[in-house]
Amino acid sequence: MSQVIQWYPGHMAKAKREAIEKMGLVDVVLELVDARIPESSRNPIIPEIIKQKPSIIVLNKSDMADAKLTSEWIEFYRQQGKTAVAIDALHNKGIKPLQRKINDLMAPYFEEQKKKGIKPRAIRLMILGIPNVGKSTLINRFVGKNQAIVGNKPGVTKAQRWLKINKEFELLDTPGILWPKFEDPETGKKLAITGAIKDSILHIDEITLSLLDYLRQAPQTLYLTKYNLSQDEIEELTTVDLLLLITKKIGLKDNYEEASQRIIQDFRNNSLGRITLDRPDVSEEFE
Ligand code: G4P
Repeated sequence: MSQVIQWYPGHMAKAKREAIEKMGLVDVVLELVDARIPESSRNPIIPEIIKQKPSIIVLNKSDMADAKLTSEWIEFYRQQGKTAVAIDALHNKGIKPLQRKINDLMAPYFEEQKKKGIKPRAIRLMILGIPNVGKSTLINRFVGKNQAIVGNKPGVTKAQRWLKINKEFELLDTPGILWPKFEDPETGKKLAITGAIKDSILHIDEITLSLLDYLRQAPQTLYLTKYNLSQDEIEELTTVDLLLLITKKIGLKDNYEEASQRIIQDFRNNSLGRITLDRPDVSEEFE
């Protein structure tokens, strides 16, 4: 469920402290990001929180992202020595491969334990991410109907509950929630376009103009068909004029505010195709 959280410095410090405290309880951290904006939806202080703890970058909502760019992102992270996988928690896709990756990550540790005569135990997981990346959805996917609480552990701030996924995995029942990046205006716009920031201070038409800028540069041209546009007709237009043209084409005369709402909704429900706004190579980033 979408939520609006006001982040003040005090809340941020508390969220960071809580995430660090939970870190001590788990074996593997699943860092959830939105596959359409993998970098923009990553909290900048994550490395400070995770430190050396085994972790996986989980690109969720991959059903909405450009599949080719998702592969490029996974390769990009691999080159940085990080493990990344794409999933679609809503439609239960990629969960098993994710579990296999977690096993792979923990295999050397359990091998060591085995040598010492210690039997492998369930791997303890936690999910960490900014609001709306799909943390609750993934928890529900993992746990499914056979939700069972494994027992209370003496938590640092409160008792932590462990949800049993299967024999191999246990999951901390509450995810770590971190704040999105606010500083960079481009990042702010991408977070607003995807709906990660609901209480955006940006005006709807400003968000839509940014989206149209991205669409014009994206490989995907479905928006042209959707709004009955031709490449020639929009070639020379400014983005403001493009918005006004779409407003007319969809029969809203000069009500560009309503048209803006419509365009953002079309993007969010994938009517404009699968579009990734963050590019893995910074030099190719949309400007
Ligand atoms: P959170 O706990 O991280 O805050 O996120 P949550 O699970 O509540 O998910 C936020 C929204 O994203 C939900 O939509 C959820 O259904 C959707 N979602 C989660 N995972 C996926 C996915 O893999 N693919 C797609 N397409 N959607 C996903 P919602 O309740 O309708 O909220 P909203 O759309 O109004 O934000």
